[in-house]
Amino acid sequence: MRARQSRPSVARVYSYVLGGRDNYGVDKDLGDYFIEDLPGSEQVAITNRDAVLRAAKAMAEAGIRQIIDMGCGLPANVNVHEVVRQAQPDAHVVYIDDDPFVVAHGRALLAVDDGIVVLQADIRDTEAIKDDAEVQRLINFDEPVGLLFAMTLSFVNDEEGPTTVVQYWADRIASGSRVYLSHFRTGNTREALATANKILEAFGRGRFRTDAEILACFGTLPLDEDGLRPCIQWRPELPEDATRDLTVWEELVVSGMARKA
Ligand SMILES: C[S@@+](CC[C@H](N)C(=O)[O-])C[C@H]1O[C@@H](n2cnc3c(N)ncnc32)[C@H](O)[C@@H]1O
Repeated sequence: MRARQSRPSVARVYSYVLGGRDNYGVDKDLGDYFIEDLPGSEQVAITNRDAVLRAAKAMAEAGIRQIIDMGCGLPANVNVHEVVRQAQPDAHVVYIDDDPFVVAHGRALLAVDDGIVVLQADIRDTEAIKDDAEVQRLINFDEPVGLLFAMTLSFVNDEEGPTTVVQYWADRIASGSRVYLSHFRTGNTREALATANKILEAFGRGRFRTDAEILACFGTLPLDEDGLRPCIQWRPELPEDATRDLTVWEELVVSGMARKA
């Protein structure tokens, strides 16, 4: 327990930057570094979070009634199952994270009924996730499923095969399934380099990728007509966001959605 508190965790720092309260001093210190020394950097987390909720909503509105959230993070103000169930009241949601702190909080706050489960698993352990009894109970892989990889593959190194992870699912999901992915994007600005360096230093992992590398993470799945774009411009909430100049922070996280044919 002490070991986990002596180092910041991705989930707790991300949650802190979004205004969450479940964190330790080490997480707050790192979160404050981003907020105070790199002012505006919280937009990376905010635009990412807003976009994943739009993606989950879009999946449900397209008729998808089962979602797996890979690297779900701590409970937030608005959660994936809440937006999904507005369109699909009986939707099943499997939340997955490898951080036991996330799983403990998730089980208390997210798993509100039998149709929602929070699993502790590493998203790289694809086979174990597919075979998990709770996944088998809640997800019918013969029906379309929505997979969310929101800012999670950024923490999977190249040699750990981020593309292999997505391709595993791409080969097994039914036609009509959707895969949404968001990711830190490489930048050459002072702000981008400082953010990438700090994340790597603090967590010992954290990979910023070029657009080409992020597109490769989708494997053989073709992106839909929105393509890959900064999260704030991915099906933007405000029409003006589609055309205005973006800040360096808004450029730093991109997303896209693929539909299995
Ligand atoms: C930046 S947070 C994003 C949370 C949420 N997906 C969102 O976009 O709002 C990344 C999450 O991925 C989790 N994560 C990172 N690597 C993981 C892995 N290999 N397996 C499972 N979860 C992982 C972290 O614990 C963290 O909760």
